[in-house]
Amino acid sequence: MTLEGQINKERLPRHIAIIMDGNGRWAKGQGKFRVFGHHKGVDTVKEITETAAELGVKYLTLYAFSTENWNRPKAEVNALMDLLVKTIKREMPTLMKNNIRLDAIGNMDSLPSKCLKNLNEAKELTCNNSGMTLVLALSYSAKWDICEAVKKIASDVQSGAIKKEEIDNNLITKYLSTHDIPEPELLIRTSGELRISNFLLWEIAYSELYFTDVLWPDFSSEELFKAIIDYQNRERRFGKTSEQLT
Ligand code: FPP
Repeated sequence: MTLEGQINKERLPRHIAIIMDGNGRWAKGQGKFRVFGHHKGVDTVKEITETAAELGVKYLTLYAFSTENWNRPKAEVNALMDLLVKTIKREMPTLMKNNIRLDAIGNMDSLPSKCLKNLNEAKELTCNNSGMTLVLALSYSAKWDICEAVKKIASDVQSGAIKKEEIDNNLITKYLSTHDIPEPELLIRTSGELRISNFLLWEIAYSELYFTDVLWPDFSSEELFKAIIDYQNRERRFGKTSEQLT
């Protein structure tokens, strides 16, 4: 049976989050500049997005640029922003064809105006698409998001909009930039690194983690199928015992 054929479509993860890693090493392996790896990484973004949407995954969140990525050499940061601007514009027909809605999380104020403009246009144009939601994490870090949420909660307590006693798990979730996105059931990281790197810390409390040595530019649809099959072979217990689940 093909890998795709082994997937139980009734038990797909509703939300898959991916830490796309290894573009630089992939380029180095080819004797090329790091930016070449990012360009190849965009081809993978396109393939994985289309495959996830076709499968029936409802949310795909991609860690495209972290808060910490601003510390990379200026030329690489500029190249990545340029790539984002161009890719979002170029791939609009792909998003429309596949009924994909575009969304973004992160510190939008810190993005170059051209990037933000393209992003907002794409979000608006795709807002009625009802297939999959593609969430780009841009200038995002989970600790940044949690700090922003804490600031808003503090000011709402101060103004009397909420009471201190109302602060619980659900309320905090509502103040995060991911408030309208379900928590990911599956988190994938490519390139052999075994870290979370400040991605969705609150939201992945019960996510299944999948690490692969494959570098992001080499991460194909088949690799996505392997990750989903691996996920489907796990037992998700949410702190309960196996017996309680049956
Ligand atoms: C990690 O590889 C990758 C990134 C920091 C950027 C990811 C961006 C893209 C794939 C392109 C733009 C995305 C979209 C959604 C259009 P790395 O550079 O950290 O690789 P290394 O660990 O091998 O150095």
